[in-house]
Amino acid sequence: LPPVIAIDGPTASGKGTVASLVAEKLGFHYLDSGALYRLVALGSQKASIDPKNGPELGILATNLVISFKNGQILLNSEDVTEVIRTESIGLRASAIAVHPEVRQALVGVQHSFRTIPGLVADGRDMASVIFPDAVLKVFLTATAEARAERRYKQLIAKGISVKLADLLHDLQERDARDSSRGTAPLLVAEGAKVLETSELSIDQAVKTVLDWYQS
Ligand code: CDP
Repeated sequence: LPPVIAIDGPTASGKGTVASLVAEKLGFHYLDSGALYRLVALGSQKASIDPKNGPELGILATNLVISFKNGQILLNSEDVTEVIRTESIGLRASAIAVHPEVRQALVGVQHSFRTIPGLVADGRDMASVIFPDAVLKVFLTATAEARAERRYKQLIAKGISVKLADLLHDLQERDARDSSRGTAPLLVAEGAKVLETSELSIDQAVKTVLDWYQS
């Protein structure tokens, strides 16, 4: 099987940016597993399914037609690349992600990204559940304050007005839910290397992961 680099971590840790750059440098495929949970969140909102209804959400997740093409994300052939990135879809994604039925429905699609020459997979349970045989496991993190600040700058740059204190609060709520859920909680997997990025630039973080992979 082609090699996998698993990069897990909390919200706004920068793992998406770092993981996609590492994939680009190595010429590997990239899996943004969070996007899959966001797609289920969006699909369930459109279908008016209660975020607490695990069995129905599982059926929905099984039947979603998802495709990733040239940087675009399609849901039932509609371009939802931007729509799934809102904070409200992020919160709904973390709510629906607690259900084992949803997580199980997404296993096959995640495995299908593992093709030649290799894969960089970003998420919460890449190292622990989806790719336990990953050749490199990284837990990428930063303090809640540093993460809130990063997200704040991103949103302000997009012209979206937000309060830093509100972002910090949402982020801590999401951390608590992701860490305490019974199924696939966010944790440092066995054998994972912790990369604390509060004081690192993106380039430094990417370089560290590449050095670990090549050593
Ligand atoms: O951008 P951010 O890190 O906040 O979120 P994301 O990676 O797009 O994931 C959205 C939500 O999906 C997270 O808050 C998690 O609850 C959930 N998720 C998960 O449970 N397992 C994964 N492998 C990836 C995401």
